[in-house]
Amino acid sequence: MQSIMKLRQVRKAYTTGTVTFEALRGINLMVNRGEFIAVVGPSGSGKSTLMNIMGCLDIPTSGEYRFENQLVNSLSPNQLADIRNRKVGFVFQAFNLLPYATTYENVEIPLLFAKVSGRKRKQRITELLARLGLADKAANKPTELSGGEMQRVAIARALANEPDVILADEPTGNLDSASGAEIVNIFRELWQSGKTVIVISHDVSIAEHAERIVRLKDGLIETNGDLSREQPASGTDNQSLS
Ligand SMILES: Nc1ncnc2c1ncn2[C@@H]1O[C@H](COP(=O)(O)OP(=O)(O)OP(=O)(O)O)[C@@H](O)[C@H]1O
Ligand SMILES: [Mg+2]
Repeated sequence: MQSIMKLRQVRKAYTTGTVTFEALRGINLMVNRGEFIAVVGPSGSGKSTLMNIMGCLDIPTSGEYRFENQLVNSLSPNQLADIRNRKVGFVFQAFNLLPYATTYENVEIPLLFAKVSGRKRKQRITELLARLGLADKAANKPTELSGGEMQRVAIARALANEPDVILADEPTGNLDSASGAEIVNIFRELWQSGKTVIVISHDVSIAEHAERIVRLKDGLIETNGDLSREQPASGTDNQSLS
């Protein structure tokens, strides 16, 4: 199978004043095209840091990161922005929608950055809103939408430029269980349509749908495998995989 992302001995250190903290301490990970991966692990274990690197929002302090065989470490900020815009769709816990823009306008933003023509933008947005059940919410602003609807707008925006990869950081963290289940289904459909889907989540139902679970602990990969190989957590809490 063809790999789309390859991390070799990736480390990430944050320096605040005189204190340096190593959030990632030597990550080796290969992601195949079309995989559905859940990243789990305790708070502070480095999940978001890893996602930022995988999505080219940040670069490693040391080690190698290759996206589609291209060495990301050596790319300029403009080249990184270009990969993010064309190849990766991001979904965040807090939705990160523009508050004063309508549903339509929020989905339009990445298309404007990609210099897609007006006619094509309209066609693409109409198609995405229909696909995500938002056709009748095109003119509404985020404050006029439910949490589940806001997250669907964010997913429509993430899909605007037809990225190969969807990266989501706790996408159901702010949603009730019914809206969360809806979002999980959407990720599943995206995966079935051929996208590479990587979701950071404490939500056991996402991990259940994933083909592979990568568990982080203290900046390192603790386990990397499918659900059947996951050991049940000791103790009584079986609601959470992290
Ligand atoms: N910009 C930053 N500057 C300094 N330290 C940071 C920065 N970002 C993250 N860290 C630290 O790096 C570690 C890993 O953070 P990260 O956000 O990757 O954790 P996480 O696994 O996503 O946690 P959570 O589940 O709470 O979201 C934490 O100890 C955090 O305090
Ligand atoms: Mg995080």
